Amino acid sequence: MLPQWIIEKKRDGAELDTQEIREFIAGYTQGDIPDYQMSALAMAIYFNGMSPRETADLTLAMMNSGKVIEPDNIPGTKVDKHSTGGIGDKISIPLAPLVAACGATVPMISGRGLGITGGTLDKLESIPGYRVGLSEPEFFHPLETCGCSMIGQTAEIAPADKKLYALRDVTATVPSIPLIVSSIMSKKMAEGIDALVLDVKCGSGAFMKGIEDARLLAQGLVDTGKAMGKKVTALITDMNQPLGRNVGNALEIQESLDILNGKGPADSQGLTLSLAEEMLRVAEVHDLGGGVMDPALHLNDGSAFEKFEQMVKCHSGDLSAGLPKAGNLIEFPAPKSGFISKCDAEQIGRASLLLGAGRAKTTDSIDHAVGISNLRKIGEPIEKGQPLCVIHSNGHEHKQHLFQTLETAFRISPDPVETTPLILEVMQA
Ligand code: URA
Repeated sequence: MLPQWIIEKKRDGAELDTQEIREFIAGYTQGDIPDYQMSALAMAIYFNGMSPRETADLTLAMMNSGKVIEPDNIPGTKVDKHSTGGIGDKISIPLAPLVAACGATVPMISGRGLGITGGTLDKLESIPGYRVGLSEPEFFHPLETCGCSMIGQTAEIAPADKKLYALRDVTATVPSIPLIVSSIMSKKMAEGIDALVLDVKCGSGAFMKGIEDARLLAQGLVDTGKAMGKKVTALITDMNQPLGRNVGNALEIQESLDILNGKGPADSQGLTLSLAEEMLRVAEVHDLGGGVMDPALHLNDGSAFEKFEQMVKCHSGDLSAGLPKAGNLIEFPAPKSGFISKCDAEQIGRASLLLGAGRAKTTDSIDHAVGISNLRKIGEPIEKGQPLCVIHSNGHEHKQHLFQTLETAFRISPDPVETTPLILEVMQA
């Protein structure tokens, strides 16, 4: 079958069969099918979509383009969490050691930040010495020692996705549900896990701005996981305002340490616990009496924090060396008294990017120390002149642009403001 015949079939709205999808992805991975034909197919998929069966076939083909970790090589019940990405979303960092403290194994392969969205790997690298680039044999050491490890995608895991994601980025084909689903699930399914919980973000700071699109993505992820024989559930959570009170790499590690010490902000601490409960439920990890496990106990008794310290050590990180700190702390004052009615995730993400905490393109370097802390959240009262947030700067940003961005991020209402729940929906297989 010539690649152009497969492109033509999808262009005309027909369903591709398993063999066609398999051949196309194998050809693209090996370099026999050039970028221009893959781009054309991606655009045809963007416009015509894919059936659940085609999406599962595409996921499988991309997963099998590289190495799949043999589950028997990792001890225990293996469960992971994946977030579709948001602002201030540091949850993976306290979650993995918390779930490990509850008795499951968490082999987590994470990504880097791009645009306004932060990445777990960049956050972890603000811990002096922390290595995210472990080889597969090295990855097993923390998993065996402390039950969790957080690394970057290796060249061997889902290479088709690595190539295709870079191509989608420059051909306007990122926001396609079958392409997003197969991209995420091909990497996650290669981790050798038994179960997966997805945190699908919805709101101004997320890929999916509205609940309908978030539902479609969550359903696609859950259905594909199920088709591949895994236990998968999805939570749809609000991303109209940032999670927690800190945005920026080292600042988010600090908040993660607070969560692990049972002292995090109510929303980020609460979501960590809810995701941990869901991971333990889908993975069927119970307490010693066979009952429902309460992860809060492991935050309060220090065992989750201990797991995190062990994991950092296994990755050559040194928490005692302290986290990088920015040179200037600037309070951003409220222009009037009232109640916070908007703390816009997208604008806060942009402000953080302007400070240097993120990258506009993949080759940019980042400043781990900068960002925004002490964010005031929707519903909270504020007096004129009190800080809406604290800016952590190393002086490289355009000040006027930064302040304008922060001004648009916040709105203050004279009347009390109702808050919406953080977890909008739960979608189980
Ligand atoms: N994250 C991924 O890994 N892939 C996508 O396509 C979108 C988000």
